[in-house]
Amino acid sequence: MNILITGGAGFIGSNLVRRMVKKYPDFRVVNLDRLTYAGNLENLRDVEGRPNYTFVKGDIKDKALVKNAFERYGIDSVMHLAAESHVDRSILSADEFLNTNVLGTHALLEAARSFWKDRPAGPAGRPAKARSVFLNVSTDEVYGSLPEAGSFTESSPCAPNSPYSASKASADHLCRAYNKTYGVPVITTHSSNNYGPYQLPEKLIPLMVLNAMEGKPLPVYGDGLNVRDWLHVEDHCSALEAALLKGSVGETYNIGADNEWKNIDLIKLICKILDELRPGSPNVPHASLIRFVKDRPGHDLRYSIDSSRMRRELGWAPSMGFEEGLKSTVEWYAGNLAWCERARSGEYMEYYEKNYMRR
Ligand code: NAD
Ligand code: TYD
Repeated sequence: MNILITGGAGFIGSNLVRRMVKKYPDFRVVNLDRLTYAGNLENLRDVEGRPNYTFVKGDIKDKALVKNAFERYGIDSVMHLAAESHVDRSILSADEFLNTNVLGTHALLEAARSFWKDRPAGPAGRPAKARSVFLNVSTDEVYGSLPEAGSFTESSPCAPNSPYSASKASADHLCRAYNKTYGVPVITTHSSNNYGPYQLPEKLIPLMVLNAMEGKPLPVYGDGLNVRDWLHVEDHCSALEAALLKGSVGETYNIGADNEWKNIDLIKLICKILDELRPGSPNVPHASLIRFVKDRPGHDLRYSIDSSRMRRELGWAPSMGFEEGLKSTVEWYAGNLAWCERARSGEYMEYYEKNYMRR
């Protein structure tokens, strides 16, 4: 099987490319990535020389380039992750979110529609090689915000609140329409917040870890009582693999690990892990760096994912306990400071200034 993974140089994409390249030596993995500020080929050093891995630098909006990639590599299935992915950036400017997340997804759907027009999608449960799948990797944020109780199911209404989640919801609608209208074999997944190695330090967990280690303020939006449902990136990747190989075409699957944390409690836990990891640091206790800052506009109160369909129908389950996963993630950042420095060079500081300095 020849798989096109888009956004394979980003956080989740690079963890997924590594997994698929190593686990399936008889699959060819083609990674199509524009290498925006969020893409980093350094994430893939350990697989770049493998014979079943190919990197193509390009923009998913570039229809000719995408068509060429399908034809040149005989693409059988797509795992689509390329996106602008950060809510705060979408609030500062939404243009690139619409360009990449909506128009880019459309360009990929068009290429799949045309290249696979003579291929029957085939039922789920068939060997992967016998069918094509367009796996649309989406987020729980398309469902909007929950009050204190309840969880998102696959039939929860679509009610996005940020430009980011609205752009992802638009892409989901396009994917659904291309399945219903043209028979493109789409499967959509909605995952909760991911954490783990190679996540850019603009997202909550790595930002707090690095700021705390450097003795910088830990900016908590609002009262810190917003709740996120955390999933280790490796568990997300195993779920994407299961959805690709065993999922039913036309279905959607929620992915989560039943692991809800109030932001403030999570940040305090990170501080505690750092206190134990670096007892000699002048920043102990790291929690003294916590600062409450102006809230994010439209800030979703709570996410909670019901992933029972994924578990029941595809036999998937997360394997990483949260405290263990968080500790190993904090250790990964502490042990990869050169990677962090490079990830924060150039454009990052400009963004940091815009988002935090006048907050
Ligand atoms: P990321 O920002 O770390 O990586 C995105 C990647 O896409 C980068 O490598 C970037 O270079 C590439 N890219 C951006 N625009 C492109 C374009 N026009 N053409 C080609 N490549 C382009 O994102 P992530 O956190 O790894 O998220 C990956 C996917 O998973 C996204 O679709 C996101 O919406 C979804 N998702 C993320 C989370 C999360 O917690 N991070 C949760 C659920 C779903
Ligand atoms: P984030 O990692 O940006 O993910 P998302 O907005 O997609 O859920 O943020 C996670 C939570 O942490 C969210 O409630 C916003 C909050 N947050 C802060 O309080 N301070 C910060 O500096 C950041 C980046 C996020």
